[in-house]
Amino acid sequence: MNIAVIGCGYVGLVSGTCLAALGHQVTGVDVNTQRVAALQAGKVPIYEPGLSEMILQQTAARRLTFTTDLPAAVREAQVIFVAVGTPPSPNGGYDLSMLFGAVEKIIQSAQSSKTIVIKSTVPPGTGEKVAQLAAQSNHRLEVVNNPEFLREGTAIRDFMNPDRIVFGASTADGLAVLREIYQPLIDRGFNILSMGRASAELSKFGANAMLAMRISFINELSRLASAVGADIESVRMGIGSDPRIGPAFLKAGIGYGGSCFPKDVAALLHQMESLKIEPHLLAGVEKANQQQRQHFVGRVLEAVAGIKQPEIALWGLAFKPDTDDIRESPAVDIARLLATAGCKVRAFDPEAMDNTQRVLGSTISYTTDIISATTGADAVVVATDWPIFITQNWHTIKQVMRGTHIFDGRNCLASGKVGAAGLHYHAVGRPPISPGGGREGTVGVVVAG
Ligand SMILES: NC(=O)c1ccc[n+]([C@@H]2O[C@H](COP(=O)([O-])OP(=O)(O)OC[C@H]3O[C@@H](n4cnc5c(N)ncnc54)[C@H](O)[C@@H]3O)[C@@H](O)[C@H]2O)c1
Repeated sequence: MNIAVIGCGYVGLVSGTCLAALGHQVTGVDVNTQRVAALQAGKVPIYEPGLSEMILQQTAARRLTFTTDLPAAVREAQVIFVAVGTPPSPNGGYDLSMLFGAVEKIIQSAQSSKTIVIKSTVPPGTGEKVAQLAAQSNHRLEVVNNPEFLREGTAIRDFMNPDRIVFGASTADGLAVLREIYQPLIDRGFNILSMGRASAELSKFGANAMLAMRISFINELSRLASAVGADIESVRMGIGSDPRIGPAFLKAGIGYGGSCFPKDVAALLHQMESLKIEPHLLAGVEKANQQQRQHFVGRVLEAVAGIKQPEIALWGLAFKPDTDDIRESPAVDIARLLATAGCKVRAFDPEAMDNTQRVLGSTISYTTDIISATTGADAVVVATDWPIFITQNWHTIKQVMRGTHIFDGRNCLASGKVGAAGLHYHAVGRPPISPGGGREGTVGVVVAG
């Protein structure tokens, strides 16, 4: 099938490349001329494991091309995926201007019947509004919804091996087009869930809000764990081994971030309030998320109190490992909070330095490796659980530091090894470990976690 994908960001690039790998003829379209020029030159503007190689394969096979010429791409295509950004708006809802801007151009450019697939995450009811606009065209423009559940860092694997593929359509024709596109994955036995457009839209929001809620729940519980001397990692296993609950998304830490959870929770709240539905549960999810990072920073500042201009090594800036995405990253907020409190922050992240520098500028300093960030530091703050941080030699870290405090904001380090190197280990919702100390029951938790 000939497909145009409008928007070459994390979702559009991954979806378009994977659709090409499934055998379709794909044209990626973006308004960002630099981005398109880079892609045409074989350079991939985002970091996503395996994506560069796959783009090169698909462009070499002439199944994938890039352009800024939306009208031409739309004219050629039978199906147009819309994967543009839907950022938060200042009032707490979604800013859908890019989506409707793209849709209007698609409608103006279409010279025959087409299917418009909304891939962007949109509030329930948006597909219907797009369909009303599309109905004004002289050509039949079917509008379907196909929300994307991929996760940055594992995006290609998620797209090619989905838990479920959600089809939202109001006609059998719309469903048939989606089935044809995804036939190679249907043949491999992956789950298709067909439903109405609003249900598909709400499924995406509901999934993200549920995951965010689990994180805020365990984070709230981690505060109680600290107060009563419990270890939240043991508690997580105690809770998560119930098959009705499961252990995923129950890891305490500095909270969630990224381009999806914060804005989806806010938009759901906004929509419920505008419909006079009281969002009792959701109202606390983002509040708890924000408090978690503030509380964590408070603990770091307490540990370095009394030092004139404390030096902090910040390990990690991306909102999670295996991405360069810093949108709503708790690590970036933590950098800001520490700098505002008078700390000298030296940061290192394997992929997210350039993006952070564009946002934070000279508020903090940037280093080329972990040791440069850590040399002379009074405390290390682990804000992203990149594997490279987990495998550090703690004796070396101890030697180059000025102080002895290690703050593990992701509960990802081997606490015993940190303590054995003569360092203070502070985690989230876990009893602290003093230099030379160990932790009772750690092995059981580590094995299960
Ligand atoms: N990033 C994720 O992990 C993820 C996962 C699932 C769903 N989503 C949703 O997918 C959508 C896209 O997210 P993203 O992270 O890929 O965004 P992004 O900001 O990385 O990419 C969006 C791209 O769209 C382009 N664009 C904007 N208007 C355009 C137009 N009129 N014509 C052509 N291109 C245009 C931008 O230049 C940009 O390159 C959002 O709705 C998001 O909520 C994101």
